[in-house]
Amino acid sequence: AKYTWVDKETCIACGACGATAPDIYDYDDEGLAEVIYDGDNNRGVTEIPEDLYDDLQDASDGCPTDSIKIQDSPFDN
Ligand code: F3S
Repeated sequence: AKYTWVDKETCIACGACGATAPDIYDYDDEGLAEVIYDGDNNRGVTEIPEDLYDDLQDASDGCPTDSIKIQDSPFDN
């Protein structure tokens, strides 16, 4: 299983992740990214389905500040 969230402390609102993985990431009023998948609300507790794993990886690889966090178990933010 895969879970993800965005560290808004380091996100620079570059906009890459939402373009790469629009089903997973969107932006708040300040342009900072957050996980919107299935109402996750950037908590990192919603399991991302396998058909989105490629998008997930591409978004992570493309983030210039390594703000996209991914792990195999739910985050405890
Ligand atoms: Fe922010 Fe990285 Fe996305 S800087 S907008 S989390 S690609």
